[in-house]
Amino acid sequence: MTNKINITLSTTRKEKPNPSSLEFGRVFTDHMFVMDYSETKGWYDPRIVPYEPISLYPSTMVFHYGQTVFEGLKAYRTKEDKIFLFRPDKNFQRLNLSNDRLCIPHIDEEFAAEALKQLISIEKDWIPSAPGTSLYIRPFIIPTEYYLGVAPSKYYRFMIILSPVGSYYKEGIKPVKIYVEDNYVRAVKGGTGTAKTGANYAASLKAQENAEKNGYSQVLWLDGLEKKYIEEVGSMNIFFKINGEVVTPALNGSILEGVTRNSIIHLLKHWDIPVSEKRISMEEVYQAYKDGFLEEAFGTGTAAVISPIGEFFYNDEKMVLNNGETGELSKKLYDTLTGIQTGKHEDLFNWIVEV
Ligand code: COI
Repeated sequence: MTNKINITLSTTRKEKPNPSSLEFGRVFTDHMFVMDYSETKGWYDPRIVPYEPISLYPSTMVFHYGQTVFEGLKAYRTKEDKIFLFRPDKNFQRLNLSNDRLCIPHIDEEFAAEALKQLISIEKDWIPSAPGTSLYIRPFIIPTEYYLGVAPSKYYRFMIILSPVGSYYKEGIKPVKIYVEDNYVRAVKGGTGTAKTGANYAASLKAQENAEKNGYSQVLWLDGLEKKYIEEVGSMNIFFKINGEVVTPALNGSILEGVTRNSIIHLLKHWDIPVSEKRISMEEVYQAYKDGFLEEAFGTGTAAVISPIGEFFYNDEKMVLNNGETGELSKKLYDTLTGIQTGKHEDLFNWIVEV
């Protein structure tokens, strides 16, 4: 593959949204990165082109069997007008892990990171700087062969699109309410739970819809076998602070290996706060709540950042944490993580890549 990225700039520029009314994932920038794959050429024709519709036949495999993977990361603008990416290497590594699971050919991680930097440089004026805002980056791969047989596609397209965003939840950084799902499951061991693939999110919609009807923002998934052990929340990993110790479900083959999850574990260890990754049941959490030991709970994710949890609905009962207010540790983690991402805090672990 030639590593030269062809650039075609858009002749028109869209108006930038007002940073105070940014929603998640509704507005897209002027350009995108595209690269194609065929068995004979490998990944070829990397290009940055105007953001525009793509044309595909109805028989294209992407419309049929869900062989897709995606990632989510963010670019931040610092006070000094520098542009920071947060651990982009981790996202491209994970994209290749998802590729493995979905029988999609690997991308060159370093080249993808370079392509992203070039795209971000062109779109840097789209990166908002108001607190809680950033430029969300969505790399994804779709199968592009025209074929209705169930088999891995012989052709693919890798794209990166960009969207200036505010907070993922309508609650902003206020605590969210979570519905513990006891009927549907998201993933099972041996399934696709650890891959970032569209099907996992499609499978979550029914329960998500029910939760929302009942006034809850997200669903907490339990394991697919016994519906007993905690896995993750719709769009984030989950942590509990129980009697001074922070606990998060151990990666077990059906949980997504979050980049933010990993970063939070690093931070907690750095602060000498006891943290463990282990199998934990909802009953244990409920018991800790009843005994007055459940101090905080929060979710972590690129889109969700650190999202404090103010309430769980479990077994027909509301479990209200911290009077529905943000806990001290959640706040400290949010401030430190976003501080590192936006250059206000020292980059303790070399997580930042400057564009
Ligand atoms: C992210 O946090 O980037 C995610 O991929 C969650 C997304 C499904 C909104």
